[in-house]
Amino acid sequence: MEDCHIRFERISKSYGDVKVIEDLSLDIQRGEFISLLGPSGSGKTTLLMLLAGFESETAGKILLNGRAINDTPSHKRNIGVVFQNYALFPHMSVGENIAFPLKMRGMAKAEIAQKVDQALDMVQLLPMRERKPAQLSGGQQQRVALARALVFEPEVVLMDEPLGALDKQLRERMQLDIRELHKRLGLTIVFVTHDQQEALTMSDRIAVFNKGNIEQIGTPREIYDHPCTRFVAEFIGETNLLEGVVEQVSSDKAVVQLANGGKLTVLKHSPLQTGQQVLISIRPERIMLSEQNGGVDNHLPAGVLDSVYLGDHLRIQLDERAHHFVAHLSRLNREWPVGTDVVVNINAADCWTMTL
Ligand SMILES: Nc1ncnc2c1ncn2[C@@H]1O[C@H](COP(=O)(O)OP(=O)(O)OP(=O)(O)O)[C@@H](O)[C@H]1O
Ligand SMILES: [Mg+2]
Repeated sequence: MEDCHIRFERISKSYGDVKVIEDLSLDIQRGEFISLLGPSGSGKTTLLMLLAGFESETAGKILLNGRAINDTPSHKRNIGVVFQNYALFPHMSVGENIAFPLKMRGMAKAEIAQKVDQALDMVQLLPMRERKPAQLSGGQQQRVALARALVFEPEVVLMDEPLGALDKQLRERMQLDIRELHKRLGLTIVFVTHDQQEALTMSDRIAVFNKGNIEQIGTPREIYDHPCTRFVAEFIGETNLLEGVVEQVSSDKAVVQLANGGKLTVLKHSPLQTGQQVLISIRPERIMLSEQNGGVDNHLPAGVLDSVYLGDHLRIQLDERAHHFVAHLSRLNREWPVGTDVVVNINAADCWTMTL
């Protein structure tokens, strides 16, 4: 085991009879940026609340630096929080807001002033020090919240959809800022987002939540390219899913008889046996179209049902001969109008198989 910073050990949390988190275990490394991604109500915020000490677990243990913190009150956990609904104090100036956690910790006045300046400088808001939150833009308020969470130099920062209310441009700026702070300060960050793109670009690892537990955890690449279950494959990005039965197996490939007719040659990413039920996921950007057979493992003749220009790619819907696949084509130097006959080419390596 590397340097485990936070450990959730068989954590359960119920509100009354309702189980919100069930037997969840998770190790987070020191300095890791981990994102929690999952549908509404799957328990992401609850897990952060438990870690921050705003709620207590029904069963299990949380360890910080190897020590159980179940009985440690929130303000002694050295954890900074930026929650979307955890607003700034409206009657306090920006500077006073940021000073608040330091006052709470009984720091001397002169030291507080210095720390507040440093924190404001870090989020580039020094000139706004005397303003009230209402006199700031949404993005500036978020940066104040970030400064307030970081000013007491916590070792862990929890962020619950901190960028949810911002417009796209500001959001992307803040993503870079947070990423930069994370690296520079060596923080451990647990980040909740609804935005898959945000999770993919920012995280060292992503934990995909489903009904109070983690369905899969891995690097963005593992989660996107190698989902373990239908739920994860469908939740992250768009994909084409097909059920089938393994018909033939060779050393590196397998032929799958599809439930809705036809066959597909897939690369054996894991051992497969004849007769085994599988689910195949093919990402839309892995599908290639040509006028003639492209010389790859799988080529299906099909027609174009729909074609939409989206600026950076073309979204093509194919007909039943190609299982109604959706393809994303990045080469925009030609059109594929509705009604065109095409050959759909798919490499065996781009067919990801999951066992059912
Ligand atoms: N204080 C509470 N009392 C009762 N039930 C609660 C309480 N807080 C949360 N829940 C329930 O627990 C479940 C998980 O909630 P949680 O806020 O952790 O979900 P989430 O994954 O953060 O969802 P979202 O993406 O919508 O923020 C939900 O069904 C919610 O209704
Ligand atoms: Mg939530």
